Amino acid sequence: MVLPHPLPLVPAPVSATAGEGRMPVTAAIRVAGDSPAVPQLIDAVERRTGIRLAQAEAPAEITLRIDPAVAASEGYTLSVGETAEIVGADEAGLFYGVQTLLQLLREDEDGSWSLRQADVSDAPRFPRRGVMLDVARHFFGVDDVKRFIDAASALKLNHLHLHLSDDQGWRIEIASWPLLTERAGATAAGGDPGGFYTKDDYREIVAYAASRHMIVIPEIDLPGHTHAIGVAYPELVEAPVLNDELIAESARLGQPLPVAGEPYLGWGVGHSSVRIHEARAYDFVRDVVRELAKLTPGPYLHVGGDESLGTPQADFDLFAERVTAIVVEAGKTPVAWHEMGSAPGIAEGTVGQYWGRTTPEGTHAEEAARFVERGGALILSPSNTAYLDMKYAEDFPLGLAWAGVIDVRTAYEWEPTAVLDVPDAAILGVEAPLWSETTRTLAEVERLAFPRAAAQAEIAWSPRESPERTWESFRARLGAMAPLWKAEGIDFHPSAEITWSDR
Ligand code: ACM
Repeated sequence: MVLPHPLPLVPAPVSATAGEGRMPVTAAIRVAGDSPAVPQLIDAVERRTGIRLAQAEAPAEITLRIDPAVAASEGYTLSVGETAEIVGADEAGLFYGVQTLLQLLREDEDGSWSLRQADVSDAPRFPRRGVMLDVARHFFGVDDVKRFIDAASALKLNHLHLHLSDDQGWRIEIASWPLLTERAGATAAGGDPGGFYTKDDYREIVAYAASRHMIVIPEIDLPGHTHAIGVAYPELVEAPVLNDELIAESARLGQPLPVAGEPYLGWGVGHSSVRIHEARAYDFVRDVVRELAKLTPGPYLHVGGDESLGTPQADFDLFAERVTAIVVEAGKTPVAWHEMGSAPGIAEGTVGQYWGRTTPEGTHAEEAARFVERGGALILSPSNTAYLDMKYAEDFPLGLAWAGVIDVRTAYEWEPTAVLDVPDAAILGVEAPLWSETTRTLAEVERLAFPRAAAQAEIAWSPRESPERTWESFRARLGAMAPLWKAEGIDFHPSAEITWSDR
């Protein structure tokens, strides 16, 4: 049963009941609690309303506290009546309760502000709710990444995967191989300026993400998508393999073909590979993994594995086994795109990221299943529903369309446990990747990511059996996000599938 007027909450909570009235929000309202979520709430209310609430000792009109008994990890309860209280199971739960409270905040006809009265009880369906930003095809600086973290974490997404290297550029300082950033950091797709993160920049991103309860997963894409490594260290990378599709696609786009040792600014794929039989290639991988692991408090390190189209299968499998073992030696859990599941001896516990279609093709399902056989688990990123860089419509000016055209409804209507033939418990959750071939600014990233990231957030957070997990309910609730996103300066795409609220 779909409620006629669901509370305007995205993602839909486990349970929510709406009260009749509203709690006025004025400068007289005080917020009490011993948590970083208190100033985060005060700042967000001010950005939205111009009203600065006061931080105070309890008793106060809005109280935040932690009680692990209230919900599962990351969960919370929220009640708004004459006063408001958020009880988090932990700090993350408190932060998510604050995001829900902010969605109950509305401007009334007379310009005053109030909170809709409600009781909410909530906790996530999946522990893994992610978004990926490709900072390799186009580079996005620390402040842009922070803004992306703000927008994503407000949807209760809790992992940020940064795609730090690709054919077009290398984006992270590695002290033991300094030419990576010196020679391969300055370029980007289309001849645009590149950039890279110093270790301090990267630490700043990781700390900022942690303050919004997001874990950063760094990815170095290997053994393919490595042309830029060869610009810095030619001896590590094979000569480009020019397949027919690359030649045809490059001609269609008017992009030059890759040339060994020279920057590649097109976006053809599948032509590059590190030299799998060179001992020095593993010195390189070991050093990069060691330095990245040191910068990474989170448990995961992503080693790529997609689209090594010119690499002989036996070589690819050998590399997959070696690179995942190197990550384990460095004390981290490897994550890899599903192709690495072709390797029988991939390190035990490796997490696979499935990017095939919602109806798997070719060997994709078998490759994904291997991660589960090896004691690992899966993240679902089906390219025909969860990819944020596909166009909303054929004529949308940004994005690509190779995996399909993904309107908001298509992004919303898929189920993570129905894609692969693996036990439900093997599905860690969902990640929505944004590849940046066509996005040159953060505003362009936002136009592709929002509102579709909200669809993926709901799929990952909300109970499958919730009466609100329907397109009609989502569509109505999503429309209510507009004033909040506008107040936060998020350049979302105002898709005509949605009726967007003014206030
Ligand atoms: C991918 O889209 N190549 C993972």
